[in-house]
This record gives sequence, structure tokens and C-alpha cells, in this order.
Amino acid sequence: MTKSHPSSPGPQNGRTGMLAALLALSVSTVALTAPRAVSAGPGEAVVDEGFNGPGLPTGWSAVEGDWKVEGGRLVGTSADAGRQTRIAFGRHLDDFRIEVTARFETAVDDVRWTALGLEFSRNATDAAGRDVRIAVEVHGTTARWSVDGREVVRSTRVARSADDGQALLVDGSAVSFDDVRVTALAPGAFVRQPGAPLAVFAHRGASSAAPENTLLADEVARRAGADWIENDVRPSRDGVPYVLHDDTVNRTTNGTGAVRDLTAAQLDGLDAGSWFAPTAAGARLPSLAAQLDDLRTRGGNLLLEIKGPHTRDEVARIVQEVRDHEMADRVLVQSFEADALRHTRELAPELPLALLRSSLDDDPVALSRELGLAAYHPADEALAARPEVVAALHAAGVAVNVWTVDSAARWKALDAAGVDGIITNRPAELAGWLSAHQ
Ligand code: G3P
Ligand code: CA
Repeated sequence: MTKSHPSSPGPQNGRTGMLAALLALSVSTVALTAPRAVSAGPGEAVVDEGFNGPGLPTGWSAVEGDWKVEGGRLVGTSADAGRQTRIAFGRHLDDFRIEVTARFETAVDDVRWTALGLEFSRNATDAAGRDVRIAVEVHGTTARWSVDGREVVRSTRVARSADDGQALLVDGSAVSFDDVRVTALAPGAFVRQPGAPLAVFAHRGASSAAPENTLLADEVARRAGADWIENDVRPSRDGVPYVLHDDTVNRTTNGTGAVRDLTAAQLDGLDAGSWFAPTAAGARLPSLAAQLDDLRTRGGNLLLEIKGPHTRDEVARIVQEVRDHEMADRVLVQSFEADALRHTRELAPELPLALLRSSLDDDPVALSRELGLAAYHPADEALAARPEVVAALHAAGVAVNVWTVDSAARWKALDAAGVDGIITNRPAELAGWLSAHQ
């Protein structure tokens, strides 16, 4: 019996926009005939099924449609478009990774299909006869989908139930599955899994190649393959959040004065590109709204830094912009200001938080717990003093992303130290370095 239906997260980053939906792994949709979950330790394989027996494995129950084991694979067939076929298995886990190899055997047309918006091929015909490895890593309401090892969709708003397990779903096609594996994970949505590459955070956009904190720098970072674009947000005199690092506009625009003393209309009139290069003349100082618009439509995730002390109302305005632009599942909020994070948590518990640090706290784990952090962001020099905090934070489910690191020698050292991501002015070079070293 279906208790709830997953909502499609839709395309969440630039890598997915062109793809049509075909097949999904449901993570929270099907009430099980299998028993209620008992706890599973991180790394424990809860399901590891190669379909080598004669029939459906124990604990696997077809909820709808035709499911059988044939030639060492599980085959689900849905004869008609729009008529789901599904099979339930596994047990409820808050933090887990599910992986499956899938192959379309037949399809009634080219737009078959998905429940969670997982998209991995232009159409069913293109995917026919080809094995793909699909994985979904789930931490509470956060999930990341990957196809053949490449992340394609992420969401922080997956609808979850209290006790349901996993399922495979097929629509208007026959799909054969093999090597279904469900592995319990330690909590921590932003913690890198073994074998996964470092996350690339473009510091103020691709700020070595374009004027920092402009949409031009964001576009360069996007094209470079950055996973995240970092910015700095400060309010104008009339309370509109703008993207700018310094407390004045003097260094990076053709104007003068403190951001907090200038109105939105005055900030909109500034040139934020000429200081960097004549070819960048005319680049605007973006409002947060303009940047969110650009990211939402063109792709990209935002590491949003609340720069300097902010009142609760100023944080509320930032939260409002994120929500109005429907970007909550593509934003990670960071700040040096613990109070700004406290305000954010109170106003928008759905937003993941990271604490910036120039030197390490005595007990980063305790502080992370107190603030409800998803990630801890130390300066490279600070982490070098006590690299063992990485393991301690990971054990608490907290990711470690390090700033601001531009040398390949340090990328290598930090990769080996097990950090999760690197904030860099040179995202294209880091992405290239990762391609060469993974
Ligand atoms: O993202 C880390 C880094 O941006 C913090 O320093 O001064 O560049 O905002 P800053
Ligand atoms: Ca910053």
C-alpha cells in the first residue's frame, strides 16, 4: 500500500536541466511488509542483493505490477504509461546510501519516467539496453542522486516518513535491476563518502578569473564545474541584501562609501567590473535576489555568507529572499557570526549551516552541536594546527570545508586529510586537478 507519494525535486543543478525523467529510486514511499527497522551501524550493508536465487528474495514484495527474477536480475514491467509498477524492500533508515544497476529492456515511449525526478538519460530509447549505476545518498530530508558516479540532483526537502523503507519503481517500461545495495551511513549530509571527490567551492565566484561577487564570476565558476558558488551578503541602507565582500564599495566598484550607507538604487548604479579588467566593465553589483535568480535559472548552488553582524530582521530578509526564489535546497548558509547562524536556524530550520573560523575552537564538535551545524569551515592554516578535528567532526556528522586554498600542493594534502570540500579562488583549476587525480 502506498502511504505517500514522493514529490519530484525537479532539476536542481545545471547538470540535469536537459535530461528527461526515466526511473526513480523511491526513498520514503512504500509501507513495508518487512519488519520495522532495527538500528544499523554506519557502513553496515542492510540490503545486498544480486538476484541469484530462483524467485523474489525474502522481504521483497511487489506492491503493484509484474516483478520477477530472470537471468540473475530483477525485472519490473509496467505495460502502460502512467501506471506505476513498484516493489518494496529494505527498512527505514535516516541515513543511508542506496545503489542499483538498472537497464531499460523496453519502453512504451521516450518519456518514461520518474517519481523523485531522478533523471539520467535524454529518453528511454537512448537508455535501452544499457546498464547504469544509480545511487541515492540520504540523510534525513537531504538527498543526493548520482548516475554512474556523477551527481545529478540534490535536494534538502525530501518528504520522509517515520518508518517506511525503500522501493524500485517502473513506469511504462520493463526495467531489469541488479546488485541492489542499501548501506547505513553515519549522519551528515555534507560529509564526503569514500571515493567521492572533494566539493569545489568557488570563492566569491571564480574570483581569480573575473570580478569577485558578480554574476560574471558566477558564470565562470559554473562553467568551470564548481559545485558551489560562495558569496558575501550585506544589507543596503534600505535593507536590501547585496553581494559584496568589503564593508565599503571602494575597492571593487567605481563608487565610494559604506554599503550600509548606500541605498539599493545607488548600489544598482555602480560598476563592479572595471576595477578588475576593462573587459569586465559594466558588471553590476548584484543584489542577493538577482544572484538567486541567476543561480536558479542557470544552475548552481550557493554558499551564502552572512558577512558581519546582522540583526534578526536583516537575517529574516535574507531568508525571505532564499525562500521567495525557492532556493532553500540549494543554499548552505555560512558566517563567522554565531548569532547570525542562530537567527537563521530559528527563522529557517530547513537551511543547512556552516561556521567560518580563522582559528579552531577548543571543541569544534561541541560548538557544532550547539549551533546545529552541517559543516565547519576553518581557514587552511587553522586546520593545519590540529588536523585530527576532521575525524572528530565527521564522527558527529559535520562536514569540513577549508578556505581559501589555491595551491595544488595544499589540495593534495587536504584531500589526504579527508576534508570534504575546498573553498578556492581557482575553481576551474581545482576541478581540473580533481579530474586528473580521481
Ligand atoms: O568562504 C570562506 C571565506 O570567504 C571567508 O573569508 O574574508 O573571504 O569572506 P572572506
Ligand atoms: Ca566570504
